[in-house]
Amino acid sequence: MKGIILAGGMGTRLWPVTLGVSKQLLPVYNKPMVYYPLSVLMLAGIREILVITRPEDQGNFKALLGDGSPWGLSIEYAVQAKPEGLPQAFVLARDFIGRDRCSLVLGDNIFFGHGLPELLKAARSQEAGATIFTYLTRTPEAYGVLIRDADGRPADVVEKPRTPISNEAVTGLYFFGPEVVEAAAGLVPSARGETEITDLIRAYIKQDRLQVQEMGRGYAWFDSGTHESLLQAAIFVQAIEDRQGLTVACLEEIAYRMGFIDDEGLHRCVAGIGNSSYGAYVRHLSQAVRKGTWVK
Ligand code: DAU
Repeated sequence: MKGIILAGGMGTRLWPVTLGVSKQLLPVYNKPMVYYPLSVLMLAGIREILVITRPEDQGNFKALLGDGSPWGLSIEYAVQAKPEGLPQAFVLARDFIGRDRCSLVLGDNIFFGHGLPELLKAARSQEAGATIFTYLTRTPEAYGVLIRDADGRPADVVEKPRTPISNEAVTGLYFFGPEVVEAAAGLVPSARGETEITDLIRAYIKQDRLQVQEMGRGYAWFDSGTHESLLQAAIFVQAIEDRQGLTVACLEEIAYRMGFIDDEGLHRCVAGIGNSSYGAYVRHLSQAVRKGTWVK
């Protein structure tokens, strides 16, 4: 299983904040935005990851994530010259995907909730077809939405509906088989000049090969692409971390819990991690592992 993080785009809804820096490198409270989607792929057990960025941002992403080896990952990079649609990620990742199944996560999507690892593992173990994750929204006009038939089965998906037809948003996390590359390459751009992920999903609905996993009210989902949602996500993460004393999307912790790195690998992560609260959390984890007091 391969993982793709799509972290390109112009970030226009965040201008002028994004005029000088990629949106997905902005902080969401105490860590860069891209840590959150990366942590989702890791929780799904995915270790081979392609990060797609604008050409001018690639150097900064490499400085941040490197080759992923400290976390037991293999991270590669590709560039998207122009934001011509989410499905282009699969075309750019053609060689990377090869014959494997893959998960695409949008670099500005943040997921949190009890049972998320199990939900991800279920999607990962699917052998054919595609999986999407849906979430109820008050603003369906901002998203792709799922329409169901009278029996509750997926009937269609519509990108940013102008009239209220469904409040079940399709989140920016998708699992597909390797056939998605050819399907994406064959798409025709919509009226807004981009290929649409909803056109890909619709094809799976028509073939009755789409699984829908609902993220219920116990989950939080943010696409942190506007000033408001970026702030809301940061406040949410701060509140959870402050109440629990646990860090959300701590890559070192997830890598250790998932068995991607061993005790020594975790201790190595501490070197040079700095004095931030994030660094202190990883250091504390490493010390607890050394003392044998860490509880999984
Ligand atoms: O967040 C979930 C939504 O994401 C879905 O419900 C929609 O179906 C899906 O189209 C998408 O909607 P957005 O309005 O958020 O799409 P946007 O064009 O803003 O792109 C989403 C992210 O992907 C954004 O961070 C920029 C990045 N991107 C986008 C395009 C079109 C790229 O890196 N390359 C691209 O070509």
